[in-house]
Amino acid sequence: MQKAIEKYRPIAIWLHWIVGLALIGQLALGLYMHDLPKQTPERAWYFNLHKSIGLTLALFILLRIVYRLRHSAPVLPNSMRAWEQLAARWSHYLLYVCMILMPITGYVGSSFSKYGIKFWGIELPNWGWEDKDIRETLFGIHETIAEVFIVLIALHVIAALKHLIVDKDGVFQRITPR
Ligand code: HEM
Ligand code: HEM
Repeated sequence: MQKAIEKYRPIAIWLHWIVGLALIGQLALGLYMHDLPKQTPERAWYFNLHKSIGLTLALFILLRIVYRLRHSAPVLPNSMRAWEQLAARWSHYLLYVCMILMPITGYVGSSFSKYGIKFWGIELPNWGWEDKDIRETLFGIHETIAEVFIVLIALHVIAALKHLIVDKDGVFQRITPR
């Protein structure tokens, strides 16, 4: 009899989908608001929304990482070649690196702006100051990591769909609710 495939735990599954889908929305929101006309209430509204969602997401990401550090991932099936297992491990690791760096660069970059950060309407203490050079450097990094993140997510989704449609090896179902 074939051994049943090991799944992620329900909390890991829910955190994966909540954080994953919200991150895709946050990336789209960031790209959308970037081109809005400057000094308009509309742009300010979207920027505040992006900052609030970003900081809320940071809390979920932290929760996800703490949970992941306490519970290791289920072992991948033997049907996957060694290089595929290595690629899966490294791409997941890099996705976590992006998840950590995006909120940090966004938060620190925003601290060097006169607009500061409002978290769902509540003004957070601003420990930075108005500095265009520092801000632009940090947002340059924020943007570059976002581009790397988008490529990684695209590869991740393609790989997941390959497991679901081509390989049919149950790897996709490891992260789906029952
Ligand atoms: C949580 C994950 C986050 C993701 C995936 C994300 C994604 C993005 C993206 C894709 C852009 C557009 C980049 C560009 O084309 O310039 C952007 C811009 C921006 N993000 Fe984030 N962001 C995140 C968190 C944050 C946080 C926590 C803050 C601040 C508290 C923040 C503040 C900003 C600001 C102010 C901009 C506009 C920069 C500019 O164009 O001057 N972001 N973000
Ligand atoms: C929306 C489409 C997505 C699909 C179809 C998808 C699919 C999957 C699948 C099938 C797995 C389990 C792989 C395994 O069995 O080991 C997985 C794990 C993972 N996914 Fe996604 N995913 C999606 C979005 C995302 C996004 C946007 C992120 C961004 C952070 C992400 C980050 C991860 C990480 C880090 C893991 C590894 C979990 C761990 O072992 O700690 N996923 N995903």
